[in-house]
Amino acid sequence: MKNELKILGVVVIFTAILYWGVEPFAHTQMHKHVDGEHFAYSDLNESTKKGNVENGKTLVMGAGACTGCHGIQAVAHKAPMDAATAVSAYGVNPPDLSTAGGLYSEKFLANLIENPAHALKVEHKFDAAKGKMHPMPAFYGAGGDKAQEIADMVAFLKSIAPKEISPKNAYLDACGRCHANRYGKLDQLGETPTFKSETDTLKHKVAVLEYQDKLKAYMGKLPPDLSIIIRARSEHFLETFVENPQSQLEGTSMPRVGLSAEGFEKVKAYLTQTGDPSKTAREAIGPWVLLFTLVFTVLAYLWKKSMWKDH
Ligand code: HEC
Ligand code: HEC
Repeated sequence: MKNELKILGVVVIFTAILYWGVEPFAHTQMHKHVDGEHFAYSDLNESTKKGNVENGKTLVMGAGACTGCHGIQAVAHKAPMDAATAVSAYGVNPPDLSTAGGLYSEKFLANLIENPAHALKVEHKFDAAKGKMHPMPAFYGAGGDKAQEIADMVAFLKSIAPKEISPKNAYLDACGRCHANRYGKLDQLGETPTFKSETDTLKHKVAVLEYQDKLKAYMGKLPPDLSIIIRARSEHFLETFVENPQSQLEGTSMPRVGLSAEGFEKVKAYLTQTGDPSKTAREAIGPWVLLFTLVFTVLAYLWKKSMWKDH
């Protein structure tokens, strides 16, 4: 008996060392811990101007030139180019701006319009001084107070954003132009259609491959499929990486997307849905399992008492 206890003690001690000592230590060495700032973007300039929606609309649809590259379905403005033409021109298909005011931080949007490469944290790739321009041009002003004009455009984008943006649309607009999600049946061109004929299926595949080739040239590599990223990486990694990709992968070409905290929750909800589809069902079952265990324990106890009452 004494020996068994000693062996048990040794096993417990070594397991504890492995569990609390070695594994977390290896983890901190392999993945640097990054503290997020909850999508505050404290490095960007704060604007104090109050935007005028009407003037913002005039600018976005006119002198701001946004609609020359972006579609805005919310105001029935179709994208000026199809995805294949756009990816050839810019390296990536500019997203529809209908949801931008709802997904991205207001502060980020203002900074993006003023200086895209800076807001997106890709100045290491795009340096205007060296003639390397970001495909989205900086806004130089339309003749009035530039800061006011920017605030107006942001106000307009916020005014057209739908009150409810579905997790899937959030993902499509914020990440979908670069990342496929096979489990969600999405490729970089949007939802992957199911075709009756093999020829059409192959044609679509070729179109996706051609898009990916151009995207690869623009990004330096093909952005990975995000189907199960929520399980491959921790939520903390995902949040801090999206908030600032440079924090964990210095020099990466993935832009800082500029989501607000709510926008990120939407994207995360979609990635949870595709990466771990049974999560909600599993969590819903939890309380019932606990309840069952409790009821069963009580019954077992009563049964034991009744069996032993004569002894
Ligand atoms: C010459 C084309 C062009 C013009 C003009 C343009 N954009 Fe863009 N925009 C792009 C491209 C290309 C991207 C995608 C860049 C990337 O993902 O690397 C983009 C990305 C964006 C994004 C998404 C950024 C993110 O965080 O992921 C927003 C929002 C946006 N543009 C808003 C605007 C607004 C508002 C205007 C007008 C003031 C505008 N754009 C004008 C080409 C353009
Ligand atoms: C303009 C293209 C672009 C957009 C938009 C974009 N990404 Fe990326 N993303 C990339 C590229 C390129 C990489 C590969 C980075 C590398 O290895 O340097 C990447 C890598 C990642 C990774 C790292 C994967 C890993 O395990 O290392 C995650 C996570 C990620 N992206 C999430 C997102 C999410 C979530 C969104 C939308 C909110 C998004 N990305 C939007 C281009 C993009």
